Amino acid sequence: MWGRVIVLLGLICGALSLDKLNMCMDAKHHKGKPGPEGELYKQCNPWHENACCTANTSAEAHDDNSYLYNFNWNHCGTMSDRCKSHFIQDTCFYECSPHLGPWIQEADESWRKERILDVPLCKEDCHSWWEDCKNEHTCKNNWHSGWDWASGINQCPQDAKCQKWTDIYPTPRSMCEQIWSKSYLYTEHAKDSGKCMQLWFNQTNPNRKVAEYYLNRGSVTHTHHSLYLVTLALLSATSLTVLV
Ligand SMILES: *[C@@H]1O[C@H](CO)[C@@H](O)[C@H](O)[C@H]1NC(C)=O
Ligand SMILES: *[C@@H]1O[C@H](CO)[C@@H](O)[C@H](O)[C@H]1NC(C)=O
Repeated sequence: MWGRVIVLLGLICGALSLDKLNMCMDAKHHKGKPGPEGELYKQCNPWHENACCTANTSAEAHDDNSYLYNFNWNHCGTMSDRCKSHFIQDTCFYECSPHLGPWIQEADESWRKERILDVPLCKEDCHSWWEDCKNEHTCKNNWHSGWDWASGINQCPQDAKCQKWTDIYPTPRSMCEQIWSKSYLYTEHAKDSGKCMQLWFNQTNPNRKVAEYYLNRGSVTHTHHSLYLVTLALLSATSLTVLV
């Protein structure tokens, strides 16, 4: 009897402990839980007080074709350092951020169980990224899939010719939203609005407040979600009881 009660309590606590304001997604390199890292490498260092990335991941994020994803930024000629710095920052944000909870979804992909969808980016970050990359070349608008991986790193598939960046991405919006298959949502919000996530910041992570804003705004669905989880826990406990 007590065994079942403990199982039941365990399931309920498990369901409720998912802290959407401070969590790591279940993906390829993320830690199980966010926590401090003594120091993180260069552009990832702003996250060191509370991060989902390890020091190793933060260093690898700065390397071409790093072991993280073998991703080749230079698939249509060498990418400029200015442009690349935004991709490094984007990688740091993706790997290190502990405040992406409201936008984490299940992913139907072989290499990760969860992904982010429609994270609202600050206008300045999306614009400066596009401005610094607009003279580059690329062959695809969605960099998540459709590459030729035969050589071990991604190369343009035969039917995709290298083109001017601005032909593939005419606007900052098209780039931010399409490049990682809707991981990001373009917004008109400015950094000081508290309504958009910042890829670039220096001191205290400003994104926790933003996640809080979106969680509270959706508090009705959030409550429903918790109730749903409790119901699920109760149901599984009941079926366990029947089995035992
Ligand atoms: C990170 O870890 C991988 C796998 O253990 C290793 O191959 C790589 O050299 C490490 N990178 C750094 C920068 O320490
Ligand atoms: C962070 O600090 C650097 C160096 O002081 C500065 O150039 C940069 O603009 C700052 N970035 C942000 C987002 O505040």
